[in-house]
Amino acid sequence: MDEFPPGFFDRADPGDDAAFYAPARLVTHIDDAAIAAVGDLYDDLGVDGEVLDLMSSWVSHFRRPPSRLVVLGMNAAELDANPAADERIVHDLNADPRIPLPDEAVDDVVCCVSVDYLVRPLEVFRDVARVLRPGGRFVCTFSNRVFPTKAIRGWLHATDEQRCAIVAEYFRRSQVFDEPTAARRTPPSHPGDPLFAVWARRRGA
Ligand SMILES: C[S@@+](CC[C@H](N)C(=O)[O-])C[C@H]1O[C@@H](n2cnc3c(N)ncnc32)[C@H](O)[C@@H]1O
Repeated sequence: MDEFPPGFFDRADPGDDAAFYAPARLVTHIDDAAIAAVGDLYDDLGVDGEVLDLMSSWVSHFRRPPSRLVVLGMNAAELDANPAADERIVHDLNADPRIPLPDEAVDDVVCCVSVDYLVRPLEVFRDVARVLRPGGRFVCTFSNRVFPTKAIRGWLHATDEQRCAIVAEYFRRSQVFDEPTAARRTPPSHPGDPLFAVWARRRGA
């Protein structure tokens, strides 16, 4: 993390994530158009095989569930309520960035509106590459809404474009992915929540 500015990964609430995420939040964090944009992206990219939804809750936003879906998040009740999930893992990636899955376990990994909560993102991105099969993609989507006390300071002070650049840097600096693609997936004229995506393929396909 040395190359990011001092304090970049600090949070207003540095306390245990387990305490913050203990109450189940069976809500959506982005509006319907942004949710539809997530599903459209997964369709366009063909994310339909064995998939890990990292930092998941009760919805994974697929238009059709992939062939097998593993969901990992902080709240068991939220994950239990996810109708698309085949396997559920409660795990704190800030306490332990290693994903409790074997090497090359899934075809693709997705992470929706959550990458801004990671305090050790490069370690997590490297471990995402470990659980991906050759050629697998890691697809990060995000908007401009956050839990402000739990998002990293660097994210809170960034513009939408800078947030795309931050996630692209996570991909580059983890050194285990090909060059990432970044896109705005809702039209600039969309009056609601914007939806941005940055994704890349595991290096060495
Ligand atoms: C804004 S919600 C997004 C949930 C879901 N991905 C969605 O699209 O609605 C943030 C999610 O990140 C997960 N999360 C936050 N901190 C985490 C951590 N340290 N380790 C694992 N998951 C975490 C929480 O469980 C929560 O469900």
